[in-house]
Amino acid sequence: MAELAIIYDRIRPDEKMLFEALDELGVPYDKVYAPQLRVTFDQAVPWRVALERCVSQSRGHAVTRALEGLGVRVINPSHVIELCGDKLATNARLARAGLPTPRTGVAFDGEAALQLIEEMGYPVVLKPTVGSWGRMVSKINDRDAAEAIIEHKEVLGGPQHSVFYVQELVKKPERDIRAFVVDGVCIGAIYRTSEHWITNTARGAKASRCEVTPEIADLAVRAAQAVEGQIVAIDLVEDPERGLLVIEINHTMEFKNSVATTGVNIPRLMGEFAIRQLEVRA
Ligand SMILES: Nc1ncnc2c1ncn2[C@@H]1O[C@H](COP(=O)(O)OP(=O)(O)O)[C@@H](O)[C@H]1O
Ligand SMILES: [Mg+2]
Repeated sequence: MAELAIIYDRIRPDEKMLFEALDELGVPYDKVYAPQLRVTFDQAVPWRVALERCVSQSRGHAVTRALEGLGVRVINPSHVIELCGDKLATNARLARAGLPTPRTGVAFDGEAALQLIEEMGYPVVLKPTVGSWGRMVSKINDRDAAEAIIEHKEVLGGPQHSVFYVQELVKKPERDIRAFVVDGVCIGAIYRTSEHWITNTARGAKASRCEVTPEIADLAVRAAQAVEGQIVAIDLVEDPERGLLVIEINHTMEFKNSVATTGVNIPRLMGEFAIRQLEVRA
């Protein structure tokens, strides 16, 4: 049993790379398969620090909360997951911190959503507050499309569809920027380039190296600070007029396409941060 745990529910290439980096660092750790984990609050666990890597956001969040109840320091902590896992919560924090984001509005009812969209002006982007890989991120070009999507959401129902999160469509070049922040330092960045306006690599966008300019580093680090993220990936878009804007912050970041691209050993830096956290409480 080790003092460090890696919590996972699927071994993606990212987790393989992380395990390899930890092996190279020579730090003992337990691989903890979350679907089989049971936690009772009268038990003791050997772990003092855990890296949460679950693909399922809800599972990762629940495991984090449970382990925190046993005194384990989880990277990222549950309050960070709560902020980053919900785009509305993230944007609210970024707004309070005075950081630039696309113009964003939220409505809580279909009729109000249509009014909000008409006020913001077409095209707009409507996206679920909880989600990833570009799923259900929708561009709405006119009132017909707005009505159709709003009706679908209303009829489908459920908490996911009762919040209408609307943004201006930023006229970015055919790419966005993903900046990686570990322990308050922007360690690298990639461009994600696509002919489609949705530039997730999960949707086929190509990753290429992006130089970390002082502007990128500054905004990425301040965005991470705004949500208290320890290891996070910040999605940025380049607005031709306003410059860099923060789109979202990912708390269980994927990095497999980014190590060779940036030349930065991201999993090793993650492992080194976890080791530093072990030392903090020693
Ligand atoms: N307001 C916007 N303007 C322009 N492009 C956007 C906007 N919002 C999202 N996108 C594009 O869609 C992608 C996915 O959006 P994002 O908010 O990051 O959701 P997800 O969590 O699914 O990745 C972004 O990487 C970006 O390319
Ligand atoms: Mg994204």
